[in-house]
Amino acid sequence: MALKASNPTTTKTWEKLQAHFETIKSTHLKDLFSTDAKRADDLTVKWEDFYADFSKNRITTETVDLLVELANELDLKDAISKYFEGDIINATEGRAVLHTALRAPEDAEVFVDGENVIPGIHEVKRKIETFTNAVVNGDHKGHTGKAITDVVNIGIGGSDLGPAMVVDSLQYYKNQLETHFVSNVDGDHYQEIIKNLNPETTLFVIVSKTFTTQETLSNANSIRAWFLKSLPQEAVAKHFVAVSTNIESVKGFGIAEENIFPMKDWVGGRFSLWSAVGLSISLALGYKHFESLLDGAHKMDTHFKTADFNENIPVIAALLTVWYNNFFQAESEAIIPYTQYLNQFATYLQQGIMESNGKSVDRDGQKVNYQTGTLIWGEPGTNSQHAFFQLIHQGTKLIPTDFIGYVESLYGNKDHHNKLMSNYFAQTEALMNGKTEAEVLTEFEGSTLSEEAIKTLAPFKIFDGNKPTTSLLIQKLTPESLGKLIAMYEHKIFVQGILWNVYSYDQFGVELGKQLAKSILKELEEDDIKANHDASTESLLAFFKKNC
Ligand code: F6P
Repeated sequence: MALKASNPTTTKTWEKLQAHFETIKSTHLKDLFSTDAKRADDLTVKWEDFYADFSKNRITTETVDLLVELANELDLKDAISKYFEGDIINATEGRAVLHTALRAPEDAEVFVDGENVIPGIHEVKRKIETFTNAVVNGDHKGHTGKAITDVVNIGIGGSDLGPAMVVDSLQYYKNQLETHFVSNVDGDHYQEIIKNLNPETTLFVIVSKTFTTQETLSNANSIRAWFLKSLPQEAVAKHFVAVSTNIESVKGFGIAEENIFPMKDWVGGRFSLWSAVGLSISLALGYKHFESLLDGAHKMDTHFKTADFNENIPVIAALLTVWYNNFFQAESEAIIPYTQYLNQFATYLQQGIMESNGKSVDRDGQKVNYQTGTLIWGEPGTNSQHAFFQLIHQGTKLIPTDFIGYVESLYGNKDHHNKLMSNYFAQTEALMNGKTEAEVLTEFEGSTLSEEAIKTLAPFKIFDGNKPTTSLLIQKLTPESLGKLIAMYEHKIFVQGILWNVYSYDQFGVELGKQLAKSILKELEEDDIKANHDASTESLLAFFKKNC
């Protein structure tokens, strides 16, 4: 059954939220804390190894109750059932959305077109496990009898960002294989990666759901041509494998059926790292760690499906986005992990969140008259503190920020970890409290500056505070806890899409540019082809052609 479609802004609860917003919009977080001793407790959810503190947000328990009422009025519960049960919730592409089934246990049942998809999922997982073990143990040899030392993932978008982010984030758990990622059609990208590789000991994993993506096919073709300069055609079987739904095209590329790891069309690219798209993750970390990642995600799925909305981490996180985006008119959200390991996390989420909810047509096909998808950005702390935190603290924009921190570090250097985490705690406190004029003036006491100079300088040193943050404190970065974290954001995306009444699982917005690039490519390659362009594009093309 299809998802229901209602404009959230015409609901009864929206009106109530608007009225509530008027009463709370100017209240300072400091006052919310000083008038409610239970606030921190009431607005924190403790679940497994996650401590999710929402209390430094510009909300009260009444706000959460109203947002939950909105979710109920918009039938979120029913939508969640449809999501997990394989209904065609990606209606514009006529597909179910079942990344959650990929991490479900073997005895689960999820039906698509009358067929339980779980046995097929576990069959592919066993294939991934067997292949991973053979490569990692050195049983799978290259054409010349040498063990594999390097794995190159060739893919883009969801066929790159998820595996690349997970492998980088969990590098502490890595085995001896070196893993590389080629994504950009920029020829310099693949050249830089292959320049130090030995084809005899390298395994190439071509990942493309459609196997039609220009970037991936160009890189795969160029890399295969480079490979064939030193090894014969029959060596391809030992060195190239592929992940795709498009088995015929993969075979056409020259990859044997036994080297194809299939995936299904009900897995969206940006949610596909749990499928065979995660093969590079399994190879880099070993299958057991890949499985722990999936187990973690499954635990978050269960939390999301069963917890009351007031105690549900992804639901509250999504409701807060709606609160800031649609009532405070905040345009972006920052995601700041206090671990260098999650260096690629915000980049990964940019695709997940912005490709999903960057939509302006609702589920009835009408233009929306309210804001949808937020801009996502971020970098690890403490580096980001020395880069863009100035704007979050003293700029003119409201930027709700997620702070992700870990109780334990992986190598256990207490001195560094305490320094890192003192910043994690201090930043959210500083963003909330700010610094008043009186506090600034007190700081000047005993200074050699004249009264006049102090008066001139003071305004620049005042921080308004009242900047909202969410603190996610997780015990330790492990494959399981990362699985939970990624799944948390996946469900947040789903809830946002439901509330904004958009289809989160198509991505037609990336098509137009691709189509135009195809025709411009012909113009670049052949002198006698000329299309009509605007004057700007015309001149740019002429300049490029003349000087290249
Ligand atoms: O950017 C558009 C997109 O379709 C993404 O959604 C997808 O992850 C990426 O291209 C790669 O697609 P494919 O896996 O089919 O090569």
